Amino acid sequence: MPKPPLKITSETVRADFNELSTVVAYARAAHFLGLWKSERLLIERLFPDRSAPLLEAGCGAGRVTLGLHDLGYTNLTAFDFAEELLAQALNLAVERGVHDIRFLLADATDLTTAPPLRDRRYGGVLFMFNGLMQIPGRDHRRRALRELRSASAPGAPLLFTTHDRDESRAERALWRLEAARWERGEQDPRLVEFGDRYFADDNGGHTFMHLPNRGEILEDLAATGWSHEEDHLRRELCRESRAVKDFSDECRFWIARNPPQ
Ligand SMILES: C[S@@+](CC[C@H](N)C(=O)[O-])C[C@H]1O[C@@H](n2cnc3c(N)ncnc32)[C@H](O)[C@@H]1O
Repeated sequence: MPKPPLKITSETVRADFNELSTVVAYARAAHFLGLWKSERLLIERLFPDRSAPLLEAGCGAGRVTLGLHDLGYTNLTAFDFAEELLAQALNLAVERGVHDIRFLLADATDLTTAPPLRDRRYGGVLFMFNGLMQIPGRDHRRRALRELRSASAPGAPLLFTTHDRDESRAERALWRLEAARWERGEQDPRLVEFGDRYFADDNGGHTFMHLPNRGEILEDLAATGWSHEEDHLRRELCRESRAVKDFSDECRFWIARNPPQ
């Protein structure tokens, strides 16, 4: 009997992010796209102290971290679990003469993978461009949220993005069809949970993404001790350039806070 296809794991995701075509796409975005207008708007509002220690999870090839550095943030730590992307981030920093960002190889679901991350409590944490949603399995995403909270100082904000299954009528219609497939047991057998997608992207690589609805994220934040403050669809914040829209579909920005103790 043929073996059923294996479920997607964090190893699948890490290998996909280390694929050459994916690395090239993220490196290009880090070199030429930089921060989106919406990201900059929220970053400057949430992190007014440019000398506070900030932690970026899932920094990829450095698009956001280098963007933060350009804005004058001076105490940056960034990590990713994909070595090839992290190498691109380091190269770009060196190329730009930036030597004061701490780049680390670490898994967001287990920060003991990079002991220096335990050295301090960060004044703010970011997990941008849906990185958190690329962790397969809700319990693993919650683990990452708990790890990030344990790395953050009391009162520190967390900024991250997700897609939103309910974002438009077209999305809701597609997800109704997908729900019917799950009811019949006809979903892609590699998927872990309803809301997951695994697709071949335009660059020839593969992308895993969990698409939540709003209620799911509110529950995850509450279950992991973060207090939800705000969330906004990107289009509600500002008008992005064509280049940004081509790079990334609509998303929802989430702002939560590690409660002050
Ligand atoms: C969509 S990319 C975003 C990269 C970069 N932040 C940007 O905006 O261009 C998501 C990133 O999250 C990283 N990532 C996913 N799961 C992770 C995990 N468990 N631990 C650390 N990094 C992870 C991926 O390797 C990838 O670099």
